[in-house]
Amino acid sequence: MPESEAFCRRCRLHETRTQVVVGQGNPAAEVMFLGEAPGRQEDLLGRGFQGAAGKVFEDILAFVGLRRADIWLANAVRCRPSVDGKRNRAPQSTEILACHHWLAADLERVHPQVVVTLGRVAFESLTGLAWDGETRRAAPFKPPGDSWEAFGLYHPAYLIYRRDLKNMYRGDLIALRTLLADRGIPIEPADGTWAQ
Ligand code: URA
Repeated sequence: MPESEAFCRRCRLHETRTQVVVGQGNPAAEVMFLGEAPGRQEDLLGRGFQGAAGKVFEDILAFVGLRRADIWLANAVRCRPSVDGKRNRAPQSTEILACHHWLAADLERVHPQVVVTLGRVAFESLTGLAWDGETRRAAPFKPPGDSWEAFGLYHPAYLIYRRDLKNMYRGDLIALRTLLADRGIPIEPADGTWAQ
């Protein structure tokens, strides 16, 4: 029987998780969004990007002209990294590496044209390259031999604390809209606002 993502035990995060927050959305999506890892709320609800970061994520999607139902959404690490089940913590490299299996499985199954990475962990897990906000951000590139193009963004949670970055982020999202339109991927017309 093939290994099931929902019952994964590839790393020790299975010992403390409530559930695996599996990749989800439209399995025929042309666009995939890749986050870092579930937090407390995602672990409880089984869905990516809930709570405050989820609100920013929804705003970002709406600005780009996409809905959750249009995209495939997954995290580089699919179980919540925590300190004794209490505080969220950053995922460790062993956890990111163990979970890469499921990212590769998503890429093969969904076959998106564009993968939008949210934050350093997502970008590095997808591409194997070091993230650099200056040169990698909003600079689409297609690794040789891969069928998808990567488009790197800062993590949405960053904007909760760094509201001064919002104008820059808006520019990056306009670049993403242009990329999707150039690739013939349907998006809703821009409404021009981005409320937070
Ligand atoms: N942050 C992420 O990167 N992913 C989630 O699903 C929630 C918060």
